[in-house]
Amino acid sequence: MSKIIVFGNEKGGSGKSTTAIHVAIGLCYQDKSVGIIDLDIRQKSMSRFLENRADFCRKQKSNLPSPTYYKIDQSNKDSKAEANLEEEKRFADALMTLEETCDFLVIDCPGGISNYVKMAHTVADTLVTPMNDSLIDFDLLAKIEASTGKVVGPSVYSEMVWDCRQLRASAKHPPIDWVILRNRISHVFSKNKYHVGKSLKNLSKRIGFRLSTGFSERVIFKELFLSGLTLLDLEKMDGWQPTLSHVSARQEMRMLLGSLSLTDD
Ligand SMILES: Nc1ncnc2c1ncn2[C@@H]1O[C@H](COP(=O)(O)OP(=O)(O)OP(=O)(O)O)[C@@H](O)[C@H]1O
Ligand SMILES: [Mg+2]
Repeated sequence: MSKIIVFGNEKGGSGKSTTAIHVAIGLCYQDKSVGIIDLDIRQKSMSRFLENRADFCRKQKSNLPSPTYYKIDQSNKDSKAEANLEEEKRFADALMTLEETCDFLVIDCPGGISNYVKMAHTVADTLVTPMNDSLIDFDLLAKIEASTGKVVGPSVYSEMVWDCRQLRASAKHPPIDWVILRNRISHVFSKNKYHVGKSLKNLSKRIGFRLSTGFSERVIFKELFLSGLTLLDLEKMDGWQPTLSHVSARQEMRMLLGSLSLTDD
């Protein structure tokens, strides 16, 4: 069976695709075969990244390691029940096809909660939820009382993860390893940064997730997208001279891969 890693967060723009890309390419560099399902059918960030990567390889006549991509579409059926059924079948086909050849499946979810998003969360062995390092994004995980900052209950997203965990438990599947990753961490000390860290620690036991090392705010994560590259590719290229920020970013990527404990290496 392939190990399934899902990147999900109800909020848009939190770094799901960026993190998914880096983890997928990181695993390729560890000689693992990786399959990709891009469930963000509207934005297709992951699919676009892979097209850019294929273009780069063609033009540069290079042979960068790349995941296997499986295209999945939304159902056009008018009836919601029929559409759900068709999507369930498409999703099952995608898993079955990729599982034949892949050690890992990386599934990139869009923001929001859809039929596909729920299915992906149910099959996740590891769920990675990047969140912007801000108290504003904290309500992704829990409802907070504005005046006191007290946690008053789980968020809609946490409840969905809870439901998926229940489904897995009833099917006797191993529990989801839910990992929250702080993204775009600023270098300067701020009260907000301190409070996010403290609140996440408090909440992790209550909601059942663990915290991994995160990514700092770095331009390089944006810059490489259009060429379909990651920092791991750059270090293999002749003449590349990394800056201090590149070295730190690469270190963050390696630490993230390590803290996800996906491989035995
Ligand atoms: N650590 C970072 N430093 C700098 N820019 C970042 C970082 N993480 C993500 N970004 C940028 O933020 C934007 C949103 O990131 P990304 O597309 O990965 O988020 P997403 O959660 O997949 O969004 P969506 O919900 O819209 O799919 C992108 O332009 C990306 O390049
Ligand atoms: Mg995305």
